[in-house]
Amino acid sequence: MRVGILSESTPGERRVAATPQTAATFIDWGWQVDLEAGAGTRAGFPDDQYTEAGANVVDGHTARSASVVLCVNPPEQIDDLTAGAALVGFLDPFVDIELVTRLQNNRITALAVEAIPRTTLAQSMDALSSQANIGGYAAALLAAMNSPKLLPMMVTAAGTIPPSRALILGVGVAGLQAIATARRLGAVVHAYDIRPETKEQVESLGAKFVAAPTEEMDEGGYAKEVGRDTQAAQHAALAPHVTEADIVITTAQIPGRPAPLLITDEMVAGMKPGSVIVDMAAGSGGNVAASKPDEVVEFSGVHIYGPTNLPAQIPHDASRMYARNLVALLERTRDDDSFRIDLDDEIIGGTTITHQGEVIHPRTRQVLGLAEHQTDRAEEPEGDTE
Ligand code: NAI
Repeated sequence: MRVGILSESTPGERRVAATPQTAATFIDWGWQVDLEAGAGTRAGFPDDQYTEAGANVVDGHTARSASVVLCVNPPEQIDDLTAGAALVGFLDPFVDIELVTRLQNNRITALAVEAIPRTTLAQSMDALSSQANIGGYAAALLAAMNSPKLLPMMVTAAGTIPPSRALILGVGVAGLQAIATARRLGAVVHAYDIRPETKEQVESLGAKFVAAPTEEMDEGGYAKEVGRDTQAAQHAALAPHVTEADIVITTAQIPGRPAPLLITDEMVAGMKPGSVIVDMAAGSGGNVAASKPDEVVEFSGVHIYGPTNLPAQIPHDASRMYARNLVALLERTRDDDSFRIDLDDEIIGGTTITHQGEVIHPRTRQVLGLAEHQTDRAEEPEGDTE
């Protein structure tokens, strides 16, 4: 049983899917670890730390030909993967249908960390949460570093500087960490989310909840797309808070749908020049009308950032957390010193997108317009990765 760890080729990506510590865990399990040379370097994990842990340093082709291949982002060379092998990483399985089809055709078992159920049992594997947490922290720092103002109040011999005012829109994992970080830096923080239960969470972090429309969630615990009237009411309620803010961080997302528009051009035009907006949803349509993915837009004197990969800015700890998420996930596939996909396992079944030449995941099947998958799960799957 051989696990391959890839060096990321996506521009700007500095994370790695295994650390020397998690490589040592796989080796303890009896797995052979093949690390693509330099895979951890940009995250602060040089090759020799992996070799000390017992891993082999290999070329990319060898790493990609392993039985289980770990990545942050999918590799371009899908054809290097071996039929029956597993690919584990952020595979964007509800959007990147071309990749899903290639994995299906190549008979790769695709485990997409985005599909890990958001349940208590799967919390230690929840890579979306671990990386969103880091993203929220990095967003607050990005805003603070680019604001022309101090965040904390300062009483000095040269006079008193009032604290900055930060507004956080969308209070999921990233938003909560952005609130906590902006508060630690001394800003006065206001926050808002469409889900009513976030009010208490916002207040417990010492921030003020903005009174704007709230709605119940879908059965998965996620926010739903709001209607036009609700959106108009949101904009009206948020506008005065946006005007007063020195820093705005937006994180609102709706899984599988474009991000909701929370800040219009008119709202930005009402802000003080020099204010900073960080739109963490810029990669999925944007919460801010004027934001652009991975660009800094200047609009009416306001700087609008649209970073799409903030966790890569904190690559060491983002990798440590992600690598631990993968160990927790793979622990469930361990079968002595080998590897087994059990689609009956609630977590592994829920995370598997393609297996044995078929698209398994209901949501991906829906996106592809396929009928519900019929599977006889009592049957032993053919060609389990060993
Ligand atoms: P996300 O990244 O999908 O969205 C961020 C936030 O945007 C959410 O809080 C959402 O309510 C909000 N939002 C969506 N539309 C909005 C709108 N029109 N206006 C204002 N806000 C809007 O969220 P994340 O961080 O992935 O969390 C999603 C859900 O999963 C939450 O309900 C969270 O509590 C739950 N969760 C559960 C976990 C567990 O049980 N293990 C772990 C992590 C999250």
